[in-house]
Amino acid sequence: MTALTLSTSSAATLRADAVVIGVAKGAKGPVVAPGAEAVDSAFDGKLAGVLETLGASGAEGEVTKLPAPAGFKAPVVVAVGLGDAPTREDGADGRYDAETLRRAAGAAARALTGAKKGAFALPLADAEDAAAVAEGALLGAYAFTTHRSNGDDRKKANGAPLAEVALLGAKPRDKAFKAAAERATTLAAEVNRARDLINTAPNVLDPKAFAAEAQAAAKEHGLKVEVLDEKALKKGGYGGILGVGQGSEAPPRLVKIAYTHPKAAKTLALVGKGITYDSGGISLKPAGHNETMKCDMSGAAAVFSAVVAAARLGLEVNVTGWLALAENMPSGSATRPGDVLTMYSGKTVEVLNTDAEGRLVLADALTRASEERPDAIVDVATLTGAMVLALGNRTFGIMANDDAFRAAIHEIAEEVGEQAWPMPLPAELRKGMDSPVADIANMGERMGGGLVAGLFLKEFIGEGITWAHLDIAGPAFNESGPFGYTPKGGTGSAVRTLVRLAERTAAGDLG
Ligand code: BES
Ligand code: MN
Ligand code: ZN
Repeated sequence: MTALTLSTSSAATLRADAVVIGVAKGAKGPVVAPGAEAVDSAFDGKLAGVLETLGASGAEGEVTKLPAPAGFKAPVVVAVGLGDAPTREDGADGRYDAETLRRAAGAAARALTGAKKGAFALPLADAEDAAAVAEGALLGAYAFTTHRSNGDDRKKANGAPLAEVALLGAKPRDKAFKAAAERATTLAAEVNRARDLINTAPNVLDPKAFAAEAQAAAKEHGLKVEVLDEKALKKGGYGGILGVGQGSEAPPRLVKIAYTHPKAAKTLALVGKGITYDSGGISLKPAGHNETMKCDMSGAAAVFSAVVAAARLGLEVNVTGWLALAENMPSGSATRPGDVLTMYSGKTVEVLNTDAEGRLVLADALTRASEERPDAIVDVATLTGAMVLALGNRTFGIMANDDAFRAAIHEIAEEVGEQAWPMPLPAELRKGMDSPVADIANMGERMGGGLVAGLFLKEFIGEGITWAHLDIAGPAFNESGPFGYTPKGGTGSAVRTLVRLAERTAAGDLG
């Protein structure tokens, strides 16, 4: 991964391939953001005019490259757009908000693909801003090359992500700056771990291979891990996970990966949907709807990464991850529409549509997680196309059995720069899942399909346990071009929200 260094050197004297500065949209054209004073004075204070001549407006995400002024060690200046300049009238106190800094740093890092070292001279009011710039740069400097052969140009240095990010104006010996840099490095590494897993081809990352990744990470970071294979799942009566996985040559797994802290007062359970490939099963998806379905394990990837992040950050909270791993395939042994499954909870489910498989694997994992009586459960899943229709490609839906918990998660998502929105669980949608033969069907009304799925999950939460469900079907996988610090493909959606939730739980801020 990209290395991060802190530096108090001037932008002029630091040896780098480029100096990154901010340019904002002012009332009368572009304005140079704080942090770029050394660059601006080398341009005799006329940098804003030069940028305007080059066509820069300061719009968010805009990147303008220009030769560095004489006397600079770095040959190039990269000016990245920050959007509207904050004014005191905004109450913004002239400060750029964290997400603006993250996105700008990410766009700049992407513009420096192939470079060795970027010196980031963006506005840093304090260590919190440094954390945002570091996070954005490290997340923007991401490339997935696992499947490229060594002869491929994109695997060579000139196509590789920016190798080093130097944060100017961040005191390397200051405790707050050091802590911010360490947290950003860990967080970015774990978001990037989730992205790598999501992007890995489904013939390579099957349930068994995913479980092996969890075992390897657990060993490295001192976590406890337990893997239930198909035999153990049968013995335990995990009818939901087995029913979804039985059509595949690659059998299912349930992975428990647990981080504990000796002084923890609370335990958080995280449950992830881990369909390593969703063909739809016998209710096969039409062509055009299945070529991105390797992303259907994004929830499990987020949960896995968040547990490892909690461990690496040494948070004073217990975090248990449950990865419900299966491949949803059609075959002579696959579950049929019309089959009835007996779930781990004992409840029976009539499978009306084998493409509504996520709720089946999650149900078993939620029941199992509930047995340990955690203080709260959060599940994360690419669960429904309906949620994408409702909220679009960049926002995940939050449902919960507790209004305060749903609001807290929404606030946390906002704080870390993940777009999310609260969704209801209307009781009247439950009757659409009434089955003439079983306790419940795995499908209900088409209208409000994302909420119907949430209501299904709710039935598998242990009595009295606070629970939230994040439907990340929209933001988990970016099918269009990269933007800000978000690459094409797997995004690592929900990792940062889960980690902040663990931090807030450790701090005793919740419940
Ligand atoms: N994995 C899909 C949901 C999905 C859609 C994820 C788009 C990412 C992008 C899920 O398993 C699914 O197929 N859901 C069905 C449920 C329906 C059959 C009740 C859906 O949303 O169409
Ligand atoms: Mn499906
Ligand atoms: Zn699915």
